[in-house]
Amino acid sequence: MQTLTTTSLRIRENQLWILDQQALPQRAQWHHCRSVDDLVGHIHALRVRGAPLIGLSASLLLAQLAEEGRDVASLQQALSTLRASRPTAVNLMNNLDRMKIALQQPDYVAAMVQEAERLVAEDRELCDRIANHGAALVKPGSRLLTHCNTGGLATAGVGTALGVILRAHQQGNVAQVWVDETRPLLQGGRLTAWELGEYGIPYQLICDSMAASLMAKKQVDAIWVGADRIAANGDVANKIGTYSLAVLAHYHGIPFYVAAPHTTHDPACANGEAIPIEQRAAKEVTGVSGSFGDVQWAPLDAQVYNPAFDVTPAALISGWVLDNGVITPQQVQEGIFRKTIS
Ligand code: MRU
Repeated sequence: MQTLTTTSLRIRENQLWILDQQALPQRAQWHHCRSVDDLVGHIHALRVRGAPLIGLSASLLLAQLAEEGRDVASLQQALSTLRASRPTAVNLMNNLDRMKIALQQPDYVAAMVQEAERLVAEDRELCDRIANHGAALVKPGSRLLTHCNTGGLATAGVGTALGVILRAHQQGNVAQVWVDETRPLLQGGRLTAWELGEYGIPYQLICDSMAASLMAKKQVDAIWVGADRIAANGDVANKIGTYSLAVLAHYHGIPFYVAAPHTTHDPACANGEAIPIEQRAAKEVTGVSGSFGDVQWAPLDAQVYNPAFDVTPAALISGWVLDNGVITPQQVQEGIFRKTIS
């Protein structure tokens, strides 16, 4: 494989390295990914996270294993194990479908390496296009609110919703960004705050529960979020807390935009109810873990409900900003998401 660098993935001497998104922003720690077990462990722990990045890391690891001489049966097994590593983001399945076709070629080693590298290059390009389409919707002086992390850390390029914010800032149209901390795993407070700081974009971090009062005080001009899966009727699965923002935006008359590459679209999923939602461990809600160790604040026997994602109905979304353009609510009603878009 070629030497490759994104914000959170590296290929060096044909080996995959990942930036630990749980250690950030305190430490920039890189892990060498030698096996499927290594990567699945990192994905489960959200050291590798974000819909596009999960798919890209799995594809690059498969290419690495092919180059190391794994036979077809073992690569097929690796593909199935990786496919099951997280259920909600469909980019993983879409990327692995392409790697599976490569695995069926006579020279599957070269085909898999080429396909994984192509997926990374494409994702960079898709992010750029999303950023350009989205930035055109950002009015001068905008105060934008975002949730979770959708930046360079979660993709091979500038990101999706955060890429739009970056591009709009470069065009001089962003007054400031409100960053939802994004309980329970704090992707906003740790990762988005870090990325915005690196770019020098003015932001203020808020607890998720503060968004409503900001909207009531007319301090939010638009909301930009990413997506883990877009269903055939336009419903969107994204990080837990996205739906409540969409309801609040609707009540306050604030535009609510979803930014995603077409690899996040799943025409086989009829609507949001058909999107599998990952349930996660109780300890993410009962306390916090970090470089300081584990802290538990809830009673030891507390029962917990911890879905990683929620579904925002299409009716609450002002626009789906994809790499191939901005999809309007009317186009969604006419069924644009019922067929494959590329
Ligand atoms: O659980 P995570 O951190 O992987 O969830 C990430 C999100 O929900 C993002 O908004 C989505 O994957 C898009 S990232 C470009």
